[in-house]
Amino acid sequence: MNELKSIESQALQALESVTSIPELDQWKSTHLGKKSSLMGVLKGMKDATPEMRKEMGAEANRIKKGLGASWEKRRQEISEAEVNARLEKEWLDITLPLSHDEQGHLHPITRYSRKIEDIFTKMGFKVLEGPLVEDDWHNFEALNIPPEHPARDMQDTFFMTNGSLLRTHTSSVQIRTMEKIQPPFRGIAPGRVFRNEEVDACHDNTFYQVEGILIDKDISVANMKYFLRTMLREIFEKDVEVRLRHGYFPFVEPGFELDLRCLLCEGKGCPACKHVGWSELMGCGMVHPKVLEACNIDPEVWGGFAFGMGLNRLVMNHYDIDNIRHFVSGDLRFVQQLN
Ligand code: DAH
Repeated sequence: MNELKSIESQALQALESVTSIPELDQWKSTHLGKKSSLMGVLKGMKDATPEMRKEMGAEANRIKKGLGASWEKRRQEISEAEVNARLEKEWLDITLPLSHDEQGHLHPITRYSRKIEDIFTKMGFKVLEGPLVEDDWHNFEALNIPPEHPARDMQDTFFMTNGSLLRTHTSSVQIRTMEKIQPPFRGIAPGRVFRNEEVDACHDNTFYQVEGILIDKDISVANMKYFLRTMLREIFEKDVEVRLRHGYFPFVEPGFELDLRCLLCEGKGCPACKHVGWSELMGCGMVHPKVLEACNIDPEVWGGFAFGMGLNRLVMNHYDIDNIRHFVSGDLRFVQQLN
């Protein structure tokens, strides 16, 4: 009986210094497990008299139950302490002001695109949207690019197995708009486009464009030039010189390439403009009558201009970025430099 008492007090004493769940498991197997002293005593009882056995059995059971209850109590204390310690560590003061160097910012493409949206909305343009997964009609056919037309080779296309395709240009949004809205209207459509191209520092298989379209009565090339020059002046926040060269795009007639007098060398020639003094900025022109007809708009009454500009090139010129693939790389070290 004395031995039982001392086993009990030793076990309770040992329990006091237990501070973690693994230690607690260890304690349980030492003091209540098959090889514990308590079990040893119980096993040794076979030589005792029946009365002693009864008495000791009852005492051993009491101790076993008591130690079990003490173990459970300790387990609860330890779990609670662990939860409290974690809460203490994870506590945050949500009323603290944010440190400035941890603040996020917009991707440069988004920033440029919003800037262009602002400029055009002030001139009465609506911001238009269209799907990235397009059909042949909106991306090609309605834009006066029938099947087998050589212009289809100008833009390598990602086709889906169901006949859909990833839009190769934002010009598809022109068609979606003209199908829905009656003229006069004016809108711009910034967005992502896809081409099945070999990628290198200047070409990626996904990039961003801004499309613009204005349909009204008596619109001329001079009107188009005015709008585009105003936009560029506001984008670059200084006066700019532009020139129009003939360019072929099936959906406009006449079609043009618009060049910007190089902003870096002001026309003297530098690596950025490949030493010609001008840099190609966008395609534009007067909307082709066939495109209007495809959207049930009478070309005898209505006409207008459209343009499509690559956004990546613009941002690359502004920040002197040497590789187009940085834009969608997801590498934060790239975007963080362009705050
Ligand atoms: N969609 C043409 C391209 O991606 C760009 C373009 C040229 C758009 C002339 C136009 C335009 O609206 O009039 O290469």
